[in-house]
Amino acid sequence: MSTSICSPTDAGAWVQVKKRHIWPCVYHFYREPPVIARGEGAHLFDAQGRRYLDCYSGVGVMSAGHSNPQILAAVQQQMQQLCHTTTIYLSEPVLRLSERLAELLPEGIDSFFFCASGSEANEAALLLATLATGRNEFITFENSLHGRTKAAMSATALPMWRTDPELLDNFHKAPQPTEPNCLETVERLLQNHKIAAVMFEPIQGNGGIHVMPGGFLPRLKNLCQQHETLLIADEVQTGINRTGDWLASTSFGVTPDIVTLAKALGNGFPIAVAATSSQLAQSYRKPGASTFGGNLVSAAAALAVLEYHTEHSLGNRASQLGRWLSEVLHKQLGKLSCVKEIRGRGLMVGVEIVHGDEQQTADYVTDVLEDLKDAGFLLGRTGPGRNVLTIMPPLVVEQSDLQTLVDALEKILLSINE
Ligand SMILES: Cc1ncc(COP(=O)(O)O)c(C=O)c1O
Repeated sequence: MSTSICSPTDAGAWVQVKKRHIWPCVYHFYREPPVIARGEGAHLFDAQGRRYLDCYSGVGVMSAGHSNPQILAAVQQQMQQLCHTTTIYLSEPVLRLSERLAELLPEGIDSFFFCASGSEANEAALLLATLATGRNEFITFENSLHGRTKAAMSATALPMWRTDPELLDNFHKAPQPTEPNCLETVERLLQNHKIAAVMFEPIQGNGGIHVMPGGFLPRLKNLCQQHETLLIADEVQTGINRTGDWLASTSFGVTPDIVTLAKALGNGFPIAVAATSSQLAQSYRKPGASTFGGNLVSAAAALAVLEYHTEHSLGNRASQLGRWLSEVLHKQLGKLSCVKEIRGRGLMVGVEIVHGDEQQTADYVTDVLEDLKDAGFLLGRTGPGRNVLTIMPPLVVEQSDLQTLVDALEKILLSINE
């Protein structure tokens, strides 16, 4: 029984509890944060019963919608039967999941290491690359985010997510893929170092929704092949139909050697995977296990997630709604002086705001997000300057709901602009 004296609806009191008991590195959005209590489809409800359109999906996780009955039924059934054993026994859900992923992912990606978070999956991918190549240096890109563990944080370039003062020095940084000299730098690094792998996000998520330029990825793959270097796609945020395909890399014309998935794979249940070819996986034969790798409940959830996405063509839905959203955003917001750029793919969209200097812009975005929340819309915030309004709703969102978001955003940007 909880000893808390807080009323469920008293956000101010919960903020105090958080200050006392949660590490300060774990920050929350909003000056007046709602206490989120319930979810349904594309909507969240706070403890007072106020309804919000969820435009961030718990950072790209809830693609199949909150409280999805089909997924919950599969989870409940598994929970009643058996919750956890770990990897030392055979169990059906995780093995079925591996078969299903092998069917859905590009040919040749058919061998899997399951774990519980995106950071952990990226660690596994980096380790496999080291074992497979006998090399221990990596290239990642400016503005990237790959996770919170030692190697994943060393791979990360976004300054705000590189807290550890003793990060590993075997991670070279190339310019952001949108920079014209990026591939040139990659080539030079490949020539001068023994690089095990290049790791990239097809669309930089936390970096502010930067989409790789057309033709970039095939050229990167080509360079890697010339230097016998592996290509790792971190699709923790872009994978599982967020951008319209199971893997965003495929739509950029490349099958990576290793790909990591997490977030939307479990639709709220913790599961992640590093995926590769059976041949490459052979390099990692010494014992390696994650206690929760392929946890039965998470695996049952992921199987149900994949079925739901397939049955409801959520990839097509993300493509079509994303195209429409982009057009409407350009039409209604493109003319506003504070809107620098609108970019993205599928339902992974960023609206970059500039309003004065960096600090003024950050403060302005804080106000915009607060007003949007008060109007019933919860958005994300990304980019090194924290100035990119980020729209990643559940893929089950209705077009009419997205139109109300664009209308509210236009109204708020206009009113604060005055
Ligand atoms: C692209 C990318 N990689 C890795 C991670 C880390 O995932 P996790 O928080 O599950 O460890 C994130 C988290 O936002 C991410 O966006």
